Amino acid sequence: MAMKKHIGSGILSAVGETPLVRLERLFQDSPARFHAKIEGMNPGGSMKDRAALSMVRGAIASGELIPGRSTVVESSSGNLGVGLAQVCRWFGLRFVCVVDPKTTPQHIATLKAYGAHLEMVTTADNDQGDFLHARIERAQQLAEEIADAFWPNQYANLLNARAQEGMMREVAEELDGKVDYLFVATGSCGTIHGCARYIAEHGLDTHIVAVDAVGSAIFGDVTCRRLVPGHGAARRPALHREGLADSVARMTDQDCVVGCRRLVAAEAILSGGSSGAVVSAVEQRAAELPEGAVCVLVLPDRGERYVDTIYSDAWVERHFGHIEHLWKR
Ligand SMILES: Cc1ncc(COP(=O)(O)O)c(C=O)c1O
Repeated sequence: MAMKKHIGSGILSAVGETPLVRLERLFQDSPARFHAKIEGMNPGGSMKDRAALSMVRGAIASGELIPGRSTVVESSSGNLGVGLAQVCRWFGLRFVCVVDPKTTPQHIATLKAYGAHLEMVTTADNDQGDFLHARIERAQQLAEEIADAFWPNQYANLLNARAQEGMMREVAEELDGKVDYLFVATGSCGTIHGCARYIAEHGLDTHIVAVDAVGSAIFGDVTCRRLVPGHGAARRPALHREGLADSVARMTDQDCVVGCRRLVAAEAILSGGSSGAVVSAVEQRAAELPEGAVCVLVLPDRGERYVDTIYSDAWVERHFGHIEHLWKR
């Protein structure tokens, strides 16, 4: 396992260089080999720390943000908000995070603890309870109203994707360029975009599996209500490009729960909902993967923020009934 290189000082020097661990127990029936990139080991708890740092650093370098004076405004109901709150606190930037009624109390408390200001939108985009359009509209409006404000716009910002080229470089270097399959969850498409770019530029022979949510508009048309946050989006992001993925796995909320519960049971890795989707996507294909194929699962965040949902037996029973038999095998 790579040692984290703490070059420089301060918490932001701990972003990136996350561990890549071998998974030897989860898919024992498969002839392939599996590694997990533990992105929850970033200091803010997710891979979005990389995106937050990259977008803010870029804006400081271009003069769009002035530490000690400017305000960052962004819409996020989750990990990017926490990543930005951390980066903004470090650089002395004010941060306004646009959230919605689905943002968990734990997330709100975390954002406040970093010193972020919260702006709540209350009108849903549709009867499926999506707030993405409302949040983005409000972020845009605030960025126009507030003096010296900057809106990173993660859905279209190439620096979001650039950050994840670094993540893919870490994976490729550790595996000497032999990555046969990469399973990656999609939301803003920053991660898959950055990985695909690194893979193309370095001539790797890697099959990229995009792990989207059933009911997401990224790789599908029909949207529907989703319970598990993180991956999936109510509209196709500007960072999406045709051909980013070699294949797509669209996973249900139940797949996320089952994948998370299997992962912690077999490997003692407590991860977030989209990691569960990634695990279930691999499970679906495990038998057809070639002998010895090197497969990498990007696990985007940690599980602590999901203890009241995915890891709560009462919550699982309320939404899916008795499904313990699906992970207690
Ligand atoms: C837990 C989790 N999984 C997956 C994603 C999707 O990543 P990306 O936005 O890079 O497509 C996100 C994005 O916020 C996330 O928070």
